[in-house]
Amino acid sequence: MAKYIAEPFKIKMVELIKMTTREERIEKLKAANYNMFALKSDDIYIDLMTDSGTGAMSDAQWAGMMMGDESYAGARGFSKVHNAVEDIFGYKFAQPVHQGRAAEKVLFPSLLKKGQISISNMHFDTTRGHVDLLGAIPVDIVVPEARDTKSYAPFKGNMDTKRMEAYIKKVGAENVALIIMTITNNTAGGQPVSIENMRETRKIADKYGIKVIIDAARYAENAFFIKQREKGYANKSIIEITREMFGYADAFTMSAKKDAIVNMGGLIGVKDDEELFQQVQCLTIPYEGFITYGGLAGRDLEALAIGLYEGTSVDFLRYRIGQVEYLGGLLKEKEVSFQYPVGGHAVFLDAKVILPHIPYHQFPGQALACELYIEAGIRSCDIGSFMMGVDPKTGEQMEAEMEFTRLAIPRRVYTQAHLDIVAEALENVTCNADKVKGYEIIWQPPVLRHFTSKLKPIE
Ligand code: F0G
Repeated sequence: MAKYIAEPFKIKMVELIKMTTREERIEKLKAANYNMFALKSDDIYIDLMTDSGTGAMSDAQWAGMMMGDESYAGARGFSKVHNAVEDIFGYKFAQPVHQGRAAEKVLFPSLLKKGQISISNMHFDTTRGHVDLLGAIPVDIVVPEARDTKSYAPFKGNMDTKRMEAYIKKVGAENVALIIMTITNNTAGGQPVSIENMRETRKIADKYGIKVIIDAARYAENAFFIKQREKGYANKSIIEITREMFGYADAFTMSAKKDAIVNMGGLIGVKDDEELFQQVQCLTIPYEGFITYGGLAGRDLEALAIGLYEGTSVDFLRYRIGQVEYLGGLLKEKEVSFQYPVGGHAVFLDAKVILPHIPYHQFPGQALACELYIEAGIRSCDIGSFMMGVDPKTGEQMEAEMEFTRLAIPRRVYTQAHLDIVAEALENVTCNADKVKGYEIIWQPPVLRHFTSKLKPIE
């Protein structure tokens, strides 16, 4: 029996949600052209589209908001964020920005030039986008276990270091400007990266004179997995593990909307390279605003400084990852397929297995998301061929290696009963899986199509 780990908090404020009928949902989904992003949140019962910016802040964070110093320059909140970064990550320099992709936009021009290569365990979409925008080349070298959704491996997010070194030798180290470690590895299913893998990656980077940065959105969840699964770390604190992880990198970009539990915010950290940090500050001013607020209000900085610590609480992380594992446990009992083991922030349903009759060009991940919404008003999202889009050269639909429907769990928002409903809904959907139809696109924009495309079911 799946075990639920009780909330390490009590609830002081609630947000009401609306119940809808199946008939209403069929209509709403049709009106949204079968695109999850076009649904109104008022028509959703349980929203598992993302864990980004959707968490519930604590009373301490809200109190911090009231104390925010809105000074243009030298605001108190900036010093608090700076001190938290020094303490938690062991980095000398911190630059707040408005979210993760802003961190990428500000930092990457100092690290990557046109034609150079960026290697990652897996680039997140916006990270890949910023590498592309600079005319550089993103290359993913994740371990092969990541693609085997059925069998257990403790660190499916790892870089395949052997393949990485062979690749660096093949293309020439002078052409590789950057190694990006995404922790946890979102695209592979929120899978963690081990300390050993980070150490090894650093060793290879040093051998070839390549910089290492961390995409740090889910730093605390990654540290918790290391504490649970890696030999020698069971008795270390999350902050001790975090300092060691970040010790193997030169800088980080962070979407603070995940593990730092704020609704908006991001960070750039630089370990000790003052010249690099000066370049970061220079680009922050035109892109984000003055360096002591970086695109955020003073109150946001307060909430961020507090959230950076709250996210590292072991009691919180045990419950948080426990929730995702609980949902995974229920789905296993009901024989619903997903990337196993579950990630830190989400269950990635294996739509290829659940809807074997729907080919990639009819978007099984999207079809499953639509069905789940109709069944119980649950919003999820496709991480598969629908998101992948068409080949920019040939215009042909590309085939994703994995067809996932992601159930991302917002932090401190839903209860055990909500997760039970999700599992029951999926059981019902899978019982009638053979009746689920594939989809075709009737309109799409030239880039990042999954946000705005219009679809219809294939009759
Ligand atoms: N890096 C990773 C690993 C992410 O998961 C995200 C966002 C970003 C960077 C960009 O951060 O949204 O603050 O600009 N991931 C969200 C998600 C959107 O749903 O997984 P952002």
